[in-house]
Amino acid sequence: MEGIIIREMQHDDLPRVCVIERGSHTAPWSNKSFEYEIENKDAFLRVAVLDGKVAGYICIRTIPDLIDLLNLAVSPEFRRMGIAGMLLNDALHGLRHLKPDTDITLEVRESNTAAITLYEKYGFSIKGKRRNYYKTPDEDAIIMDLVLREYQNRV
Ligand SMILES: CC(C)(COP(=O)(O)OP(=O)(O)OC[C@H]1O[C@@H](n2cnc3c(N)ncnc32)[C@H](O)[C@@H]1OP(=O)(O)O)[C@@H](O)C(=O)NCCC(=O)NCCS
Repeated sequence: MEGIIIREMQHDDLPRVCVIERGSHTAPWSNKSFEYEIENKDAFLRVAVLDGKVAGYICIRTIPDLIDLLNLAVSPEFRRMGIAGMLLNDALHGLRHLKPDTDITLEVRESNTAAITLYEKYGFSIKGKRRNYYKTPDEDAIIMDLVLREYQNRV
């Protein structure tokens, strides 16, 4: 998509990131959670910027034998424009070179068809379920994963 820049998340992005976060999740992360991840050397955080405005972000934690996709959201007015796909592609492409022998895993609400469809489009497959993983509202999580070495650029 034209005009989108993907870059590292910075502290100055947090007011806008937190607005998107609150509009995207029923149990949103706090400002402090994002601050912690920005300072965490094992975190991979990117924002997508359109016309100078943060439109979405992705948060991934890399630990020695596992990569965990913790958070991904796009502001409602910018959805279905391919921004989450760009963030995901950028992350998977970058991490594939960094840790080719590692799996990337994530949990997603069972009812979140948009996200499950997105992740399947980018090569994730369903591995199982965690019962009552989420609160507010209570819901099972679907566990998905992808072998990074097998990832092919989608954009
Ligand atoms: C899920 C979410 C990140 C998708 O962001 P997006 O920028 O709109 O996604 P994209 O435009 O990149 O969509 C890529 C593909 O994902 C799938 N997809 C995205 N939104 C969808 C929807 N509402 N319904 C069905 N499929 C959807 C489609 O396959 C889409 O490709 P297409 O548009 O060519 O059909 C966004 O809806 C969001 O922020 N939701 C709230 C937060 C959330 O649920 N995060 C994920 C769990 S942590």
